[in-house]
Order: sequence, then C-alpha cells, then structure tokens
Amino acid sequence: MGSQRRFTILFTRDEIEATVKKLAAEIRQDYLGKHPILIGVLKGSFMFLADLIRLLDFPLEVEFVRLSSYGRGTKSSGKIRMVHSLRSKIKGRHVLVIEDIVDTGLTTSFVLDYLGRKKPASLKVCALTDKPSRRQIPVNIDYRGLTVPNKFIVGYGLDWDERFRNLPDIYVVENEG
Ligand code: PRP
Repeated sequence: MGSQRRFTILFTRDEIEATVKKLAAEIRQDYLGKHPILIGVLKGSFMFLADLIRLLDFPLEVEFVRLSSYGRGTKSSGKIRMVHSLRSKIKGRHVLVIEDIVDTGLTTSFVLDYLGRKKPASLKVCALTDKPSRRQIPVNIDYRGLTVPNKFIVGYGLDWDERFRNLPDIYVVENEG
C-alpha cells in the first residue's frame, strides 16, 4: 500500500494575493519607465508571474528560462540543467528574475550567473517564497514574499512530481504512515 499524504494549508489565496500586491508595488516604484524584462523560471513561477504582471501597469517584457534541479520526489538532486534558454537579447536591459521559491539557492544562482554574463543594465531577483533554512549558496533576493519553513510545499505553481501546481493556495505536504 502507498503512504497517505497529509496537506496542511500554509498560505491562503488571500495571503498570496496580498503578497503579490505588496511585491508589485515595490517593483512598480523601482521599474516604472525602465521597460524591464521579467524572466520567469519555469515551470513553478508561471502562476506568480501571471498574477504579478497584471498588477504592473507600465511597459515591460516577459521571457522564460527553464532549468531542472529536482528529480522525482521532493529532494533536490543538486544538479542544474538548462532546458530552455533565453530567446531574446538582454544586454543593457533591466532584468528581473521571477522565482516561485528559492530553496537551496542553486537554481537562482545558476540563472544569475547565466544572465549576468549577458551584461544586463541591472539584474535583480523577485521570489514569492523563500526557504532560507535550506540555503546551500547565498542568493540576494531583492523582492521577497513569504518565508517558508523547512517543509515541502505545493500549490500556486509549486509541484510534487508535477502534481498540485493548480492548487490556488499553498500547502505543506507530508507523507504519513
Ligand atoms: C523549483 C523552483 C525553483 C527551484 C528552487 O524548480 O521552481 O526554480 O526549484 O530550488 P533551489 O533553490 O533548491 O534550486 P524545479 O527545479 O522543481 O522545477 P519546476 O519549477 O519545473 O517545478
């Protein structure tokens, strides 16, 4: 028999919405008139990015990169691979990386190295959630949303084995039994 999973709500959709609004207000103040490129790190960031940009009422562009760090299950393999690289030029542009979560920091650090080599005018990070207890490499998060405990979380774009991304709230999920 497979083990049961226990879901405990961590952040409600209302808390997430308030956080996205707060981050959007900060970003608006810093990027108004700068025509930034927001780069979502797929897949997890797609929902956050979609909600965030609807609150940004100024010209901007959207790009995506896709990396892979987790294998199956909930433990990071520690290996990063670029699966989908950048399609547009960012030299001299203001670039804001959009993450759903910074966990070990390995993914964000890899993305920042990759983008930094392309000589953007500025390069910052916005993360909806931050799990500082798991950090393996320091990452400067310029726009930080919610701090999460050292638990596996799903929902609002975050998955467990590709499932649960569609949940509108964020849950801690644990195996029991
Ligand atoms: C997750 C998440 C971040 C990264 C953070 O992506 O979306 O990009 O891990 O973890 P780290 O700080 O330990 O590197 P994942 O590789 O699971 O892919 P996904 O977004 O497609 O689910």
